[in-house]
Amino acid sequence: MGELTTAVTAPDNITYMDTAAGTAVGLDYKRRFVATLDVRHGQTVADIGCGPGTDLARLADAVGVRGSVVGIDREARMLDEARRRLALRPNVELRSGDIHDLPLEDASVDRARVDRVLQHVLDPAKAMAEVRRVLRPGGLFGMAEPDWDTLAVSDDDLETSRRFAGFVAGQVRNTTIGRDLARLCVQAGMRVRSVDPIAVLFRDFGTADQILGLRRNTARAVQAGRLAESDGEAWLERLASGPVVAGFTFYLVIAEA
Ligand SMILES: C[S@@+](CC[C@H](N)C(=O)[O-])C[C@H]1O[C@@H](n2cnc3c(N)ncnc32)[C@H](O)[C@@H]1O
Repeated sequence: MGELTTAVTAPDNITYMDTAAGTAVGLDYKRRFVATLDVRHGQTVADIGCGPGTDLARLADAVGVRGSVVGIDREARMLDEARRRLALRPNVELRSGDIHDLPLEDASVDRARVDRVLQHVLDPAKAMAEVRRVLRPGGLFGMAEPDWDTLAVSDDDLETSRRFAGFVAGQVRNTTIGRDLARLCVQAGMRVRSVDPIAVLFRDFGTADQILGLRRNTARAVQAGRLAESDGEAWLERLASGPVVAGFTFYLVIAEA
């Protein structure tokens, strides 16, 4: 491969999550998410798939000292990092667990949330049913998930843009989970309160590359025989010289148990 794609390795997961959370759109939707979920003082909130604890401090502030936040993740490394970051927050507890079999009692939480978790899970319908089990009647479940089938990158070579987008979408287990959230909630016996689309748009090559893996995924698509190397290199060179317009639709859904 050429200069743009050589030695581009996948970023560490925690670094990737921190970078995504620090983009303008990341900061904005994460703030909106807690507000839309209507988290109140004294409540118990479960952040399922909490990662390195990205949103736990914000949730801890929202529930106050009389409330509690339970961060749950299936990866020990994420929980270790979350523990380190939240060490001074007595109202935050971290538990190891899987969304298909949550370490929580029936009807024990007022709010539950997932942020880019259901896109990865084995059985989204089972995960939804499990979240409903742990929510108190009238409790709210907030979900923020992408729809990778909407990924679009502007370029004269539309075919290469489409091949790149198709390759990226194909890497994610539940590619269209964003658009499917409301339907899955209803199937799990919940009432959908709101469905808000969020346009995620990157206008500079560096950020688009960090979040969408422009160079890394082009190299992988070439290696997989999904893209001609010359087309991929030319595409990247044009994008690197700008302007960049690349994005996808993200969904923020609130449902009631
Ligand atoms: C993209 S990260 C998002 C982390 C965090 N919610 C944030 O917004 O920064 C997805 C997280 O979900 C966790 N995860 C994936 N599948 C899971 C499952 N079945 N049960 C629990 N956690 C899971 C991963 O370990 C990872 O920490």
